Amino acid sequence: MKKIRQPIIAVLGHVDHGKTTLLDRIRRTNVAGKEAGGITQHIGATEVPIETVKQLAGPLIKLWKGEIKLPGLLFIDTPGHEAFTSLRARGGSLADLAVLIVDVNEGFQPQTIESIEILRKNRTPFIVAANKIDRIKGWKVEEDEPFLVNIKKQDQRAQQELETKLWELIGKFYEMGFNANRFDRVQDFTRELAIIPISAKYGIGVPELLVLIAGLSQKYLEEKLKIEVEGPARGTILEVREELGLGTTIDVIIYDGTLRKDDTIVVGGKDKAIVTKIRALLKPKPLDEIRDPRFRFDQVDEVAAAAGIKIAAPGLEEALAGSPVIAARSEEEVERAKAEILGQ
Ligand code: GTP
Ligand code: NA
Ligand code: MG
Repeated sequence: MKKIRQPIIAVLGHVDHGKTTLLDRIRRTNVAGKEAGGITQHIGATEVPIETVKQLAGPLIKLWKGEIKLPGLLFIDTPGHEAFTSLRARGGSLADLAVLIVDVNEGFQPQTIESIEILRKNRTPFIVAANKIDRIKGWKVEEDEPFLVNIKKQDQRAQQELETKLWELIGKFYEMGFNANRFDRVQDFTRELAIIPISAKYGIGVPELLVLIAGLSQKYLEEKLKIEVEGPARGTILEVREELGLGTTIDVIIYDGTLRKDDTIVVGGKDKAIVTKIRALLKPKPLDEIRDPRFRFDQVDEVAAAAGIKIAAPGLEEALAGSPVIAARSEEEVERAKAEILGQ
């Protein structure tokens, strides 16, 4: 049976431009506040149910024409520090759609450009969040307000300053070959890059950002997101981690099929393919961050794409972050998965 899976939405951008803060605002968490040095050093994953999207979007959801079919959004948080190019590339390559965050006061920075290049290379569609608008001089903050409501309350000078900063961004995008525009001035979302001014810290513009992410995913990616849910799972390892009482585990993004507890999995390791049986499937609660959970994970018997899941199994010590995870339900499927992994 085919169904529409949740899209994988990667958040990319230069260090400290506000990626984790945006996800914190959506989750009502404080992951960014607990990071060593305020720097993200791992890839994260969080499931946002469609009900949460509707709640945060508020009355804006009425702009949605037609039926909402998406079950939710799976967000991937990536580090912006220059040292973590490979983690950004991993997050970028998993994404169905990306949000590029740019601090509107700092403009383009080296990892902004690097992120765009990753997205371009993977042909990943993206939208732009122009963040930290609350820092514009004299800006009046109304928490969680849609941008188009909030902007009307700003005085002429603040509006003009935002406009100037957006034009600077639009100019930079143009130099890189993109036609960008403020989202409410975009005529054709397949040809123009939409910029949504936001304040991740105060939630301004987050309603529009979420409606655009969900709306564009469903409208333009529906065919890609339609999967054979019952098929064997395929995924990518985000991290290999030691967990007290569980031994070595892998945090995995499942992007296709269904992973069942009694499946054999074939996992990429250093110069080899590891074949093992699942001991436990541990699923973070909705709105929880897999790399910094607030709650205990749920033990589940199966998990359908797209999802972030922690897998405990023997022999994962040599698993390699970034490698594939392929579920196999017969000897033949195991052999095929091994060949595929070793051929890479
Ligand atoms: P890395 O993951 O390390 O690349 O950083 P990041 O992009 O996740 O940025 P992070 O969320 O850690 O935010 C960096 C700093 O900017 C923190 O002090 C945040 O509180 C602050 N910040 C983020 N968004 C906003 C915003 O909209 N307004 C203001 N005023 N500060 C913000
Ligand atoms: Na940071
Ligand atoms: Mg971060």
